[in-house]
Amino acid sequence: MKNPPNPDLMLFKTKKTEVFMDKKTVRDIDVSGKKVLVRCDFNVPQDENGNITDTRRIVGALPTIKYLIEHNAKVILCSHLGRPKGEVKKEFSLKPVKDELSRQLGCEVKLADDIVGESAKTLTSNMKEKEVVLLENVRFDKREEANDREFSKELASLADIYVNDAFGTSHRAHSSTAGVAEFLPAVSGFLIEKEIKFLGDSLNNPQRPFVAILGGKKVSDKISVINNLIDKVDTLIIGGGMAYTFLKAKGLNIGSSICEEDKLDLAKELLEKAKTKNVELLLPVDVNVAKEYDKDAESKIVSADKIEDGWMGLDIGPETIKKYEAVLKNAKTVMWNGPLGVFEFEKFSTGTNEIAKILGNIDATTVIGGGDSAAAIEKAGFADKMTHISTGGGASLEFLEGKVLPGIDCLQDL
Ligand code: 3PG
Repeated sequence: MKNPPNPDLMLFKTKKTEVFMDKKTVRDIDVSGKKVLVRCDFNVPQDENGNITDTRRIVGALPTIKYLIEHNAKVILCSHLGRPKGEVKKEFSLKPVKDELSRQLGCEVKLADDIVGESAKTLTSNMKEKEVVLLENVRFDKREEANDREFSKELASLADIYVNDAFGTSHRAHSSTAGVAEFLPAVSGFLIEKEIKFLGDSLNNPQRPFVAILGGKKVSDKISVINNLIDKVDTLIIGGGMAYTFLKAKGLNIGSSICEEDKLDLAKELLEKAKTKNVELLLPVDVNVAKEYDKDAESKIVSADKIEDGWMGLDIGPETIKKYEAVLKNAKTVMWNGPLGVFEFEKFSTGTNEIAKILGNIDATTVIGGGDSAAAIEKAGFADKMTHISTGGGASLEFLEGKVLPGIDCLQDL
């Protein structure tokens, strides 16, 4: 008798990413003299003193902002920062972003004290061409995340045109990322255009061999990505914590390594699916194991089938790196999402760093998912050698899952 379908694998009966490849951009609309509301993702990391520690998301938004200024628009920027949950909290103010933007643009950016209140209305109603106003954190109003229609309408009333350039937040159906598009002509900015080009082209029209490297802690976080990629890649390389669920599914002893017991059957199914599709699925052949989850833990390299009880795998080993390198050297397209070990601990960052180095030296299109993977490649010092590093963590993951992103779906088709 046929087994009933696994509910985890039933998630994919949704629209596929290919549907939003042809969206209008700022180039396709006349912005001169118009008030243009631009949703950016200025959700930047900050240190304890509020200093921005990574400006990539701000830098990524500059081409669209500069284009609008050059084309005589009145530019109204908005973004969230952190998760203030609908309350005004000083530590989540966009003031540091305003300062950095003013510096990067070489002109004064005015910050409104609110989003759709008196301050925002006053600053935006008297704008001159080429002026830039930044609204306060849109998540200071709880209606933002609720995608409240009235709030979307109020936001839209500040402008004539809506531009979404917040790729990192395009998987959220919020007022400023999607709801507002109901009330204004809505097009994409250059960052979203670029993200879709690199992520979309690699995914849907890759030069082959196409290799995907997937890491990260849990299989459950990546099920949909693995499932979608198995249909597209030639080789799937698995590392990080989730490799141990796969190793256990293959019947190996994994000691006290991280394992999702309830995903073992799913891991078996994915291994089977890869086989059926003729996709090479590579798992670690040796690992760096430790007695405990600690940056200074006692550790040793062992074969993946010799992990003893009381030891946990925290990184891939040298043989595995060699094996992965052999495949990557022949690749023409590589997509990487998720670190291959506990890269936050120096001692267990070798696998991630070495793979970053290999990617930096191969002749292939290399596309890196945002979030942890971007941080890892940055830390390893090879960021400038990659073809594209996504500015979206959750958003790039959902894109790789083949899901429709509401912040892109809502934009006008070409
Ligand atoms: C991110 O950092 O991934 C984006 O800015 C989205 O943030 P969120 O997960 O709080 O919606």
